[in-house]
Parts: sequence; structure tokens; C-alpha cells
Amino acid sequence: MAEALVIVGASYAGVQLAASARELGFDAPIVLLGDETHAPYQRPPLSKGLLTGKTAVDQLALRGPDFFTEQNIDLRLGTRATALDLAAQRVQLADGSHLDYGWLALATGARCRPLTVPGASLQGVHELRTLDDALAVHAAVSSASRGTRACVVGGGFIGLEVAAALTAAGAQVTVLEGQTRLLARSFPPAMSDYVAAAHRQRGVALELGRGVQALLANAAGHVESVLLDDGRQLACDLVVLGIGVLPNVELAEAAGIACAGGILVDACGRTGAPNVLAAGDVANMELPHGRLRLESIQAANDGARAAASVLVGQPQPLSAVPWFWSEQHDLKLQMAGIPAHGDQTVLRGDMADDRFTLFYLRDGVVVAAHSVNRPAEHMLARKLIAGRAQIPAEALADPAADLKPFSILQPRG
Ligand code: NAI
Repeated sequence: MAEALVIVGASYAGVQLAASARELGFDAPIVLLGDETHAPYQRPPLSKGLLTGKTAVDQLALRGPDFFTEQNIDLRLGTRATALDLAAQRVQLADGSHLDYGWLALATGARCRPLTVPGASLQGVHELRTLDDALAVHAAVSSASRGTRACVVGGGFIGLEVAAALTAAGAQVTVLEGQTRLLARSFPPAMSDYVAAAHRQRGVALELGRGVQALLANAAGHVESVLLDDGRQLACDLVVLGIGVLPNVELAEAAGIACAGGILVDACGRTGAPNVLAAGDVANMELPHGRLRLESIQAANDGARAAASVLVGQPQPLSAVPWFWSEQHDLKLQMAGIPAHGDQTVLRGDMADDRFTLFYLRDGVVVAAHSVNRPAEHMLARKLIAGRAQIPAEALADPAADLKPFSILQPRG
């Protein structure tokens, strides 16, 4: 099988890479390795519909039941790669066997950053990344009743989505965020303040700029409170941790593949090693706006498509505008582009109505947009960003002004 493509990791990036390789006519064997025993599944519902009961486990399949067989993709679940031998073009597996490759793709993803305080692994303390994690949180949520106290550590996307789902399930939720504002990695202060107010209005208590010193147990070894860094104890029946992720670079690093905040790849997903590609949450990509390790489904899918193009000798660099979304309570948040400090912000709509888009302009060019409950406007915003549209701030700010004429693609400067 020396000409085979071996893909390590069977989530969005790994599955898309296999699918795109076939679409592009790659006809050598493809082996797709996943260390989980579940067939590849969708992740967004794990912190949303799966927790509220709106989405059932059997609705989560990432591809139809026959997809892998039909595409002649050898999907091996419960199979962990343990080492790479780049010189021999060989992947070592946990069961002692190995696979020889012609091409290797690393789509190993990321794992939850551990909370390193006493009590972090008590019963009743959950992280949320995998389907099994989500099922455990769901079981806890289902048994939660009005009055159940839940503490969510981390005010990022996972923490806030889980806070909304737990609130919907009738729990009293407190979010503890170490920074002085929510979603500080993705949002400027105005958006953080909006999201904080929206959660408070919907019954979530927020503790911002607050560290956790320890999680304390009852006599049965179950978490019963969180000790804050100001000495207060917050009583709780359930803790969910959402304090970020760490890229799974260990396989690559041990093999000598260049890594720095992820596996370093170019805009086509090529690593520094011959015939080795990487895509998804683990890949630190060279993008038009600089190096970035994007944690989003769109980046995983587009990065995988770019990597697949290399396999057939027609490299197509990744160029799409990054975008992602989140659902919290009745709010659909959509984000496109990468805003930077110093961008001019222009609000279209009214934050108080929970329907608006915040546009970001750099040198007069639309570079990013954050929308709440404005899906059509957001789709247009993505076109404006891709087209590097130049729009007067007054027009952007006026909900009655038609922005469509500005969406005709303008040449990249
Ligand atoms: P995150 O990096 O978005 O947020 C983590 C938050 O935890 C940050 O606000 C950080 O300041 C805070 N934090 C870190 N250590 C802390 C501590 N000791 N105490 C209190 N707060 C602390 O990561 P998150 O929310 O865990 O999400 C994990 C991954 O899942 C990310 O890649 C995220 O983008 C992705 N995700 C994406 C979603 C979406 O696009 N809708 C939804 C859910 C998750």
C-alpha cells in the first residue's frame, strides 16, 4: 500500500480530506483512522441541541451510512496511530501493526485544555469536546431540575453555549471567566459587553475576571462547590469546563515535523515533511492575513480541500474568508473575517433588539462582520469581505441603505 493515503483523525478535516481526494479523482487506497469508536459525527450540536434534547444521537452522522464504502474509503474506528516513521513512510498503530503510506495527512484535531487546580477530576466535573463528553453532560442536564446549580468555567463559545443549554434545562447557571470580558479571543469589547448583557438578561450569572482555586467535594467525592480566587465558595451540583483547547501535535512533533502553536503548514496544507499534509484544528496555516490556527469547521473543511488538491498535483491554496457561528439562547451569532485592534467599527441595526451586524473596516475596506439574528445580512457581509468592498460608514450604518450593489467582487489589491 505504499501509494496509499493514510489520514490520521476522522473528524471534519479527515473526513473532508478523504471525500475531496475522491472527488478530485485520487484513486489510490485511502485509510482513515479514528481513535474514537463512534462513526464520524457533527460537533456543533454537542454543545447545543444534544444538551437540550432537540437533537438525537442518531441525527449526528457526518456522512450517510454507506458513504465510506461507496467511496472506497477504509474507515478504521477505535484505531490510534502511535508513531510516525517519515523515512520509511510508515504509521505505527496502537495494536502493534503498521501502515505504509504514499501520502500522510494529519487531522488529529485538538483536545480540551485541562484545568490544573485541585479537584478538577471530581465526579460531576465535565469537559465537552467529544460525543462521549456531550452524552455525559446531557445525562447530567437531563437529571437537572429547576434549582440545580451549574457552574461553567470559561466564557468562550463552549462555555456560553453550554450555559444557554443548561439554562434552558432549568438549571441556575454561573459562568466563571478568567478574563474581564467574555469571548475576548474572538470579540472586541463592544461585542463582549453585548453578549454579557444578553446572557444576564436570560438568567445566566457571570463572574468576570475571576479565577478558580479549587473544586471541592462532598463526602461521596462529587463536586459540591467551586472555590474562587477571592475566597468565595460557589455551591454547585455540576461543573462544565470550557477553557480552550490544545492542538494534538504530539505525533508530528515526535516525528520531527515543524510545529509552533500547531503543525506548521502552507496555504495548501503542506507540512515541512515530504508527502505529509495537515488540516483542521491542529494545523497552523499560512493565510493571506498571516499565520493562524483556526478552530472552526469551515477552516477544517476548506483546509482539507486545499490539502486534497495537492494529492492530485493541482494545488489550490486556501483563500476563503474565515467564518463560524454560535447559538446561545435565542441568539444566532455569525462571524466572518478576522477583526484586528484598530479597525473602525460600524453598527448596523440595534443591539437592544438583538438584531444587528457590527462591521469592521480597515483603511475603508470591509474586513470582518459580527452578526446577531441577521442571517441574510451576514451572507451579504461575507461577500462584501471576500470582495474587499469599500463602503462609506454612513451607508453601512443605515439599515435602509442597500448594500447589495457593493457586493460585486472588486479586484484584490
Ligand atoms: P475558547 O478558547 O473559545 O474559550 C475559552 C475561554 O476560557 C476563554 O474566554 C478564556 O479566557 C477562558 N479561560 C481559560 N482558562 C480559564 C480559567 N482557568 N478559568 C476561567 N476561564 C478560563 O475555547 P472553548 O470555549 O473551550 O471552545 C473550545 C473549542 O471549541 C474552540 O476551538 C472553539 O472555537 C470551539 N467551539 C466553537 C464553537 C462555534 O464555533 N460555535 C462552539 C463551541 C466550541
